[in-house]
Amino acid sequence: MSNRVIIFDTTLRDGEQALAASLTVKEKLQIAQSLERLGVDVMEVGFPVSSPGDFESVQTIARTIKNSRVCALARALEKDIDAAAQSLSVADQFRIHTFISTSTIHVESKLKRSFDQVLDMAVGAVKYARRFTDDVEFSCEDAGRTPIDNLCRMVEAAIKAGAKTINIPDTVGYTVPSEFGGIIQNLFDRVPNIDQAVISVHCHDDLGLSVANSITAVQHGARQIECTVNGIGERAGNCSLEEIAMIIATRKASLGLETGINAKEIHRTSNLVSQLCNMPVQANKAIVGANAFTHSSGIHQDGVLKSQNTYEIMTPESIGLNRNNLNMTSRSGRHVIKHRMEEMGYGEQDYDMDTLYEAFLKLADKKGQVFDYDLEALVYVEAQAEDENHYELQQLVVHSDSTQGQATATVTLTVDGQSVTEAATGNGPVDAAYKAIARASGCEINISSYQLSAKGQGQDALGQVDITASYHEQSFHGVGLATDVVEASAAALIHVMNLTWRADKVAENKHKLKQARTELGGV
Ligand code: KIV
Ligand code: ZN
Repeated sequence: MSNRVIIFDTTLRDGEQALAASLTVKEKLQIAQSLERLGVDVMEVGFPVSSPGDFESVQTIARTIKNSRVCALARALEKDIDAAAQSLSVADQFRIHTFISTSTIHVESKLKRSFDQVLDMAVGAVKYARRFTDDVEFSCEDAGRTPIDNLCRMVEAAIKAGAKTINIPDTVGYTVPSEFGGIIQNLFDRVPNIDQAVISVHCHDDLGLSVANSITAVQHGARQIECTVNGIGERAGNCSLEEIAMIIATRKASLGLETGINAKEIHRTSNLVSQLCNMPVQANKAIVGANAFTHSSGIHQDGVLKSQNTYEIMTPESIGLNRNNLNMTSRSGRHVIKHRMEEMGYGEQDYDMDTLYEAFLKLADKKGQVFDYDLEALVYVEAQAEDENHYELQQLVVHSDSTQGQATATVTLTVDGQSVTEAATGNGPVDAAYKAIARASGCEINISSYQLSAKGQGQDALGQVDITASYHEQSFHGVGLATDVVEASAAALIHVMNLTWRADKVAENKHKLKQARTELGGV
């Protein structure tokens, strides 16, 4: 048996489906390109039948990605498989992933069928998917709670029908490692045609055991792990990609396994996913948490200074985290910025130098010193602002009396090229600024969540505001970054307003197209 473990990333499917606000096609493509550089073997990028937006993003990614296999999800239904096949057909290499529940509770309560009927549906779906590609994966949803005899029958039938990968999900994160390893071992011992497929695992983290279960599974012969960056996903999330990759790399001598992951891309990809998905990473998270390589106690610091491996089992550099957080000032030239970006793993294709440099100079004027993490944050925020904007903030002046809980804001916006100034009072500076912006723009935005975080350290940190807002039954995520938190709050709101304006424009264009088609049809 090969010692190579296939890394199947599902950040853009299982991870994305759990977000408060969906990612845009552009954001999904950015993440897909980052995953490609990270070296994932397969990336599952959506569930195309679920919405036209999902279909479009799967198609866009399938057209662009060349070095990873692109995969889409489909229930065991022909219409789902048709949508998956159609969206993926533009790819160089693709996989269709079809699934159905196999546990008694799901079969009886959710599907309201007998196990034999479900088995027939699974076989039919795999055969149907094979009409479009040889690379078909079949998942037994809730396999972790499926009676082992039923699971063995299902796996044997799916392989016979043509599935090349069989996925065993612990959908509800219920099993413990010895149990889950036992399930995989049973499949190898009892399913006669098991050698004709790769056995995959897909573990959820409800009990915090997804990584342990996945590693135990590969010790029993599984050779594909399904995971997500930062472990994002349904409920408590999925098995975390970076933890799997670094366990396999760091414990190579004991596990005897390897992956194709380029670990130096881990830090950058984790940052990007966290930013775009608006899912902060806890500071003590293994591998990618802010404290993962920080030594706090004096004894530990002393040890690391004497010899790094006293308290470090892997280096920050191995995941692409640079310890040299050099500061830059407004006197730093473009070549310095380019060099820092290269050091952090960003290629020229990842940002627009003119836009970045202009934003850098503005920030350097305000802050004095600019650090690597500021540059990273600027790249992300500037990328969001590249699209056509209907609303722009020209000026924001706020007077606040904290003791009275009262503030006044005067704001000047450019709305479709016209300058508009309005003032408002509120119970604090952000409230007053938001009211003034609403007056000036005439835009009604319903904010469902507001988060303020610090990018950087100490007094020098930039304030980042992330808001989620609902508009016409859709959710949007806006982000603002500034040295001043009220300004960052205003920028986040204006970002959302531009997103809703673009969404309205897309809907309007679609409506016009439909009308034109109807008129043509009527002629
Ligand atoms: O958790 C799960 O069972 C899934 C399947 C669709 C693979 O996400
Ligand atoms: Zn899942």
